[in-house]
Amino acid sequence: MHQIKEMAGDTVWIGANDRRLAMFEGVYSVPKGVSYNAYLIRDERTAILDTADAAVGRRFFENVEAALSGRRLDYVIVQHAEPDHSALLGELLARHPEATVVCGKKTLELLKQFFGLGLEGRARAVSEGDELSLGRHNLKFIMAPMVHWPEVMVTYDAATKTLFSADAFGCFGALNGALYADEVDYARDCMDEARRYYTNIVGKYGAQVAALLKKAAAPDIVRICPLHGYVWRENLEAILCKYRLWSAFEPEERGVMIAYASVYGGTENAAELLASELNGRGVRSELFDVSVTDASEIVAAAFKWSHLAFASTTYNMGIFVSMEAVIHDLVAHNIQNRTVAILENGSWAPASGGLIRERLSACKGIEFVEPAIRILSSVTEGDARAIAGLADALAGRIAPPIAAAAPAPRPAAPIDGNATRRLSYGLFLLTARHCGRENGCIVNTVIQVAEKPTKLAVAVNKANLTRDFIEGSGKFCASVLTEGAPYGIFQRFGLQSGRDADKFAEDEGFAVAANGLRYIAQYANAAFGAKVVESIDCGSHTLFVAEVTEAIALSDEPSATYKYYFEHIKPKPAPPKEAKKGFVCRICGYTYEGDALPEGFLCPLCKHGAEDFERL
Ligand code: FEO
Repeated sequence: MHQIKEMAGDTVWIGANDRRLAMFEGVYSVPKGVSYNAYLIRDERTAILDTADAAVGRRFFENVEAALSGRRLDYVIVQHAEPDHSALLGELLARHPEATVVCGKKTLELLKQFFGLGLEGRARAVSEGDELSLGRHNLKFIMAPMVHWPEVMVTYDAATKTLFSADAFGCFGALNGALYADEVDYARDCMDEARRYYTNIVGKYGAQVAALLKKAAAPDIVRICPLHGYVWRENLEAILCKYRLWSAFEPEERGVMIAYASVYGGTENAAELLASELNGRGVRSELFDVSVTDASEIVAAAFKWSHLAFASTTYNMGIFVSMEAVIHDLVAHNIQNRTVAILENGSWAPASGGLIRERLSACKGIEFVEPAIRILSSVTEGDARAIAGLADALAGRIAPPIAAAAPAPRPAAPIDGNATRRLSYGLFLLTARHCGRENGCIVNTVIQVAEKPTKLAVAVNKANLTRDFIEGSGKFCASVLTEGAPYGIFQRFGLQSGRDADKFAEDEGFAVAANGLRYIAQYANAAFGAKVVESIDCGSHTLFVAEVTEAIALSDEPSATYKYYFEHIKPKPAPPKEAKKGFVCRICGYTYEGDALPEGFLCPLCKHGAEDFERL
């Protein structure tokens, strides 16, 4: 039975999923399967963009015929000749002899090499900037050599502002019912696989990917349709910013990827000690035993982390086999701009460290941390001290100490809650929608940070569901609450979690902003629709920087401040009937009974920490 997905603008997804494939391209494990995306545009003339892998032929042809629904097929656009997208072309042309193939010149050569397809008289060769009109849709072809093969092109449809991006922006993993990235928790469930896909499939060609990003930045793009994985139609910046980093070989995270190869445990012990020493210095690390980890995972991690450490035993006077394969892969994928630490082990003639250094020296921008560590079989006390020294060196590079100011340094005073409470705050209702659900929470930090374009910064506690919704959707609406806002609004949106309650069960008093999110018209004097352009991990909170897409003035009533809320809105706690031992949250009034607050205690209602509690 066909399984197609109607998209906006007469476009239909006609791809298929494969969950039986063990190794993509014979080398990358795909435990969650893979999708082969293909698209049909039904205009005055019809065009299919790419076919699919032979393994999913039956579903693909069912989809083609269902989507065409009896219409003739005018064009088959071949953006990429690799067989996972072109294996069904021959059969498609046999079923639709009326169709003309549209592709780059080099594509024709590859189709002939792979499938013996002679397309003389049936193909129209296109080059950079050529256009094809289907009626309302005008398709423009943009050459994207080496993203992933030399013949690759992408296609821009001005009518729907869609970029059909071939392998770019793809992801491992079959589609699970959904088609769009905003219908799933992409950051949590897919970004690691998107990174593994990018780094292993096109990671080597960062310059070519950067060139494509530059070319594709010119047209206005609202939808990205890759050949693998989910389609992007919201918060495109979430994937574009990753591509900017990956293509420039810039790390996403500051910390250390530690890859080790160990036979009898000595090298593993050294790697674990290094991770532990780094942890003691506040440096994050991620460890991989290369003998049991798919090399593609390690390549992806090397693109993610800023610093790399390789610990390998010596084997046959060389690098241990599984580590040798990883190093070979990293060099082949053109890893660049990383700081590298090396630990070698060898019971009688250690040699792996020198060889790893030699191989990685061939890559651009690789800096080594000195000295390398040498272990003879097992880690000794002296080795442990050397590893601690290596952790010092790495930590120093990851978070270089701030140069002392002219006055003599003195220990910093502890954070005084009375000082932070002197800062002025407003009160805002923040709303967001993701995966079909809407939620809202009360925040106290919404500030304007730029005028042209108008940008806001919003800080949201990570424990709030609304934060996850903003991260997933890339947009929010902020209502500026007024002094007339009743306590019930704060109870409804601030003192319960959207995980337990539908905060929008009652809809009265709300209006809808242009970005589709609700704002509270009744108790706000202004509302802002905004699109996230950057997010910063601030520890307990995420700071979203967002461009304002709509600013609505609602009334002249004064904005509620935090101080006003405590003095006039929040009910005063009733005097206790009997003296109780415990603590009360200054923010929301929650009472904890006991002699002392547990370590790391967070208010279960408002998520504020122990510093915001006072004794009863
Ligand atoms: Fe999905 Fe390069 O093919």
